Amino acid sequence: MRRLLPEPAADVTVPELMAELRPSDDPREDRPHVITNFVLTLDGKATIGGLSGPIGTRRDTAMLVGLRTRVDAVMIGAGTMREECYGRVLADPAKRERREEDGLPRDPLMVLVSGRLDLPWEAPLFTEGGGRVLIFTTSDDDPPPTETPVQLVRGEGMVDLSAALTQLRTEHGVRSLLCEGGPNLHAQLLQAGLVDELFVTHAPKLAGGEGPGLVAGLPEAERPLELAWLVAEPETDELFARYRVPRQ
Ligand SMILES: NC(=O)c1ccc[n+]([C@@H]2O[C@H](COP(=O)([O-])OP(=O)(O)OC[C@H]3O[C@@H](n4cnc5c(N)ncnc54)[C@H](OP(=O)(O)O)[C@@H]3O)[C@@H](O)[C@H]2O)c1
Repeated sequence: MRRLLPEPAADVTVPELMAELRPSDDPREDRPHVITNFVLTLDGKATIGGLSGPIGTRRDTAMLVGLRTRVDAVMIGAGTMREECYGRVLADPAKRERREEDGLPRDPLMVLVSGRLDLPWEAPLFTEGGGRVLIFTTSDDDPPPTETPVQLVRGEGMVDLSAALTQLRTEHGVRSLLCEGGPNLHAQLLQAGLVDELFVTHAPKLAGGEGPGLVAGLPEAERPLELAWLVAEPETDELFARYRVPRQ
């Protein structure tokens, strides 16, 4: 890959880029350092046929997995879990081992946010038994038995995301969190001022249709961002951008 900004470099690899990222070194007292990751088409769509998979290439997946290796926890909304049916966050044992050497928990904690607890319990995330899952929910339902340990944190109304992040930081030791979407959860985090950085893959294609974008339901307002890096993959024409949310 070619780094275009800030310092041009002819040949950079995913591991080299990831080695620069130490989000766990920069937590707030009351919440983790929060980064988000999305892949988008040129017309700003986050899905083709209801899924994100058709938008990116294997290089995009490698970047996403690279980000997962750098954080204490990964968070998604129930809508994303229903569509994408996650498995274990880091499937590769070598990557889990390397995390321990870097002072990170072996498996990132998987955090779900769900009002109704209507989740695909047959998904490998729940059935394979690796890692741990924490679900913030407002449902009174009990989940079915799962191989993977699942802990519920119950609230009322909507899940208060600010309180959830504080709980992750103070009770579960989460210093850094990667939110992988979807657009609904992402919009709430942004609106509440809970996002520090956005990683966005710009895919060289159009999608059209009515699929969601980077955010769903975010009230209109100008929200400037700072471009922290821009990396190009000449083989696939993808652009990998890292944006910072300026601190207030
Ligand atoms: N291109 C990309 O990079 C990318 C990334 C992620 C997802 N996606 C796509 O985005 C689509 C899903 O979008 P989405 O916006 O519906 O997904 P989402 O944000 O993952 O899920 C929304 C759902 O999460 C739960 N939720 C969110 N905030 C909540 C809160 N504060 N309190 C209680 N529950 C809360 C609710 O679920 P309940 O129904 O349980 O109440 C809500 O319906 C999928 O098609 C997926 O493939 C694309």
